[in-house]
Amino acid sequence: MSAMTRSDRPVVVCLEGVTKIFEDAPAVDDLNLEIYDGEFFSLLGPSGCGKTTTLRMVGGFEEPTSGRILLGGRDVTYLAPYHRDVNTVFQSYALFPHLNVFDNVAFGLRRKKLTKVEVARRVGSMLEIVDLPHYEKRKASQLSGGQQQRVALARALVNEPTLLLLDEPMSALDAKLRRQMQIELKRIQSQVGITFLYVTHDQEEAMTMSDRLAVMRSGKIEGIGSPRDVYDSPSTEFVATFLGASNLLGGSVTGSSGVLSSVTLVDGSTLSVPKERVPALEGTTSVKVGVRPEKISIGVAGTSVSAGHNALRGRVRVSTFTGVGNQYLVDSVSGTELTVYAQNIGQELAPRSGDDVVLTWPIEHTFAVVPMVRSSDEESTNDEE
Ligand SMILES: Nc1ncnc2c1ncn2[C@@H]1O[C@H](COP(=O)(O)OP(=O)(O)OP(=O)(O)O)[C@@H](O)[C@H]1O
Ligand SMILES: [Mg+2]
Repeated sequence: MSAMTRSDRPVVVCLEGVTKIFEDAPAVDDLNLEIYDGEFFSLLGPSGCGKTTTLRMVGGFEEPTSGRILLGGRDVTYLAPYHRDVNTVFQSYALFPHLNVFDNVAFGLRRKKLTKVEVARRVGSMLEIVDLPHYEKRKASQLSGGQQQRVALARALVNEPTLLLLDEPMSALDAKLRRQMQIELKRIQSQVGITFLYVTHDQEEAMTMSDRLAVMRSGKIEGIGSPRDVYDSPSTEFVATFLGASNLLGGSVTGSSGVLSSVTLVDGSTLSVPKERVPALEGTTSVKVGVRPEKISIGVAGTSVSAGHNALRGRVRVSTFTGVGNQYLVDSVSGTELTVYAQNIGQELAPRSGDDVVLTWPIEHTFAVVPMVRSSDEESTNDEE
């Protein structure tokens, strides 16, 4: 193994300029990606953005049209799946329904001609890990969805692959079980130390489990990093709206001083953005300034603004009590509607609809992105502003 990260972990998966063209449209478009040993890495993106196609090429079920795929430094671009040190858990668990749990998990090991004792030892310890220790004799068809999911996971992990590919493995589970399984899966992954490449369109799922994630759109990666980095400093408008909720205000960069850029909004008010969070602009000054709803404090009009904060005046249109807090929709002077989440810490008198307010938030929680150019085939469900 060659390349090392800053944290000195070997690269397990490396995609170099990988493109896959079906008919005439690229499903995966010149993708470059490195995944490190022991990482829980997620590919996140809307339906049709190329997640499954990417995963299938890493697994060897699909050949790229161009580019290279390396596993552990070895070029495997055209190697058959069974010659790769990789296991896959698909969306449908594909257990053998007539076999019991033990035989399902032991299946791959028996083909490797391990001794009976060794097979029993490894299956036993894997069933402990997935928390199904007394289920050996149960038929797969007599298990709940979550239990089947864990058996499928045990069956893949028992082979101790270098890399495990998982394609929306929880989509058949209900919301509550999904959340349980997310925590379970993260625990299992850190316990066994195998690199996970996980595909999902569920942003909460990706953020909960991943060490790093990549947000894909139209076959390309638009943002990559730790969930916190990608959430706090989204690189594009698409990432800002796909991963969590963002307030985005159109404006143009009109100046800078020290480490801050200033952006003037349509109504003439200005906001400060840390320079490192302003994208490189080519031949334009147009940007959208972003702030997450939970970063904003809402106060009665006239409240003084602390140093180091941005401020915008507005009027509350809707105020909703959600138990854990209040959610507000505020018409700002700049013409954009902002969403604000305020945590219920049992103190404030909540502003009501019609109240004039001032919204403030720390400059450090402000980012800017290049306004999105939408492709014609993209749905316009998030468009209303
Ligand atoms: N075998 C195929 N032949 C032709 N087009 C395909 C084929 N497989 C996938 N595609 C197309 O490639 C694009 C990417 O598909 P892919 O299955 O990778 O998306 P995805 O991100 O996994 O979506 P989803 O979240 O719905 O599973 C889609 O436009 C799809 O229609
Ligand atoms: Mg898919």
